[in-house]
Amino acid sequence: MRIDGEERLAFCSNDYLGLANDPRLAAAMHRGVDDYGVGAGAAHLINGHFTPHQRLEEELADWLGVDAARLFSTGYMANLGVVGALVGRGDTVLADRLNHASLVDAAQLSGARLSRYRHNDMADLERRLATARGERLILTDGVFSMDGDVAPLAELVALADRFDAWLVVDEAHAFGVLGHQGRGSFEAAGIVPGERVLRVGTLGKAFGTAGAFVAGAAEPLEVLLQRARTYLFTTAQPPAVAEASRAALAIVRDEDGRRQRLEALIRTFREGVAALAGFEPMPSSTPIQPLVVGDSDRALALAEQLAGQGLMVPAIRPPTVPRGSARLRITFSAVHTDEHLASLLAALDTLQAGG
Ligand SMILES: Cc1ncc(COP(=O)(O)O)c(C=O)c1O
Repeated sequence: MRIDGEERLAFCSNDYLGLANDPRLAAAMHRGVDDYGVGAGAAHLINGHFTPHQRLEEELADWLGVDAARLFSTGYMANLGVVGALVGRGDTVLADRLNHASLVDAAQLSGARLSRYRHNDMADLERRLATARGERLILTDGVFSMDGDVAPLAELVALADRFDAWLVVDEAHAFGVLGHQGRGSFEAAGIVPGERVLRVGTLGKAFGTAGAFVAGAAEPLEVLLQRARTYLFTTAQPPAVAEASRAALAIVRDEDGRRQRLEALIRTFREGVAALAGFEPMPSSTPIQPLVVGDSDRALALAEQLAGQGLMVPAIRPPTVPRGSARLRITFSAVHTDEHLASLLAALDTLQAGG
């Protein structure tokens, strides 16, 4: 990146597969503009739903092996839409405490009671499910955005089945990255999601474009069409963006080499950090590799020192993360080179040397 005229090597993007600048996506978007113009002009249910939207929804459903997928304009809106469509006043949303802010907002806006269980603590979730009122909806990140760890899906599915609850999993940081053909955390865990599981994906991260989708069984997807307010009452994403996302999906599906490259980067980084004094990698096998520092001021100071060495690594502080757990949030992309990684490790090493 170039910031205020200075080059920085970025380790903070969610463009995990390096697709945001891929010429094939750019060409697809240009074609989309030539064929459909720039804006959708209206909501999907008025006349904003174009052929590229329809094809993208079908191709996403086909890729994941589900009945249907529904496009939203952003992941934030997809989360608000899906939760608000499925539950309301008198119901209960059971949410992991480390969920992304959009999931917290989704639960609050739905009017349902919000019950937050300890991070990945299935005994706590079980206790809360047992006393929950109304329709129950379990809400979790598939890969946690600030920690990089994964949700215990097998146990979540078993609890959802036992208590007849919806399970909504935000796969923003998993689709494209985990599992065969990038199909996400369920595929990586070898679990086939049932009828009461809905998965949310955003297209602005590994897909390199913008927008989002919810994928699942025909019936809840029909409910979204009828009731998701962030689907109904907003302009559809530009059809050219959907064309770019279609090009992205083909690459996500077919170019496993990008995921292998990410795995290699993650492995080398973790080995490298483990050898440095003072930093300890978190239990994450995903491209999100945070280094917890604790104190917010120290995290900021370290981020500034890294910036001084030409690196962009953000200091993430409360309220984005729990108090006392400020961190450097390092993320990798398949287009990072071995030299990029070596510069990062060398810079981290100087931070330690300097205390
Ligand atoms: C876990 C998670 N869910 C949802 C979102 C929101 O997606 P979008 O950027 O498409 O609104 C983000 C971040 O942007 C995220 O990290």
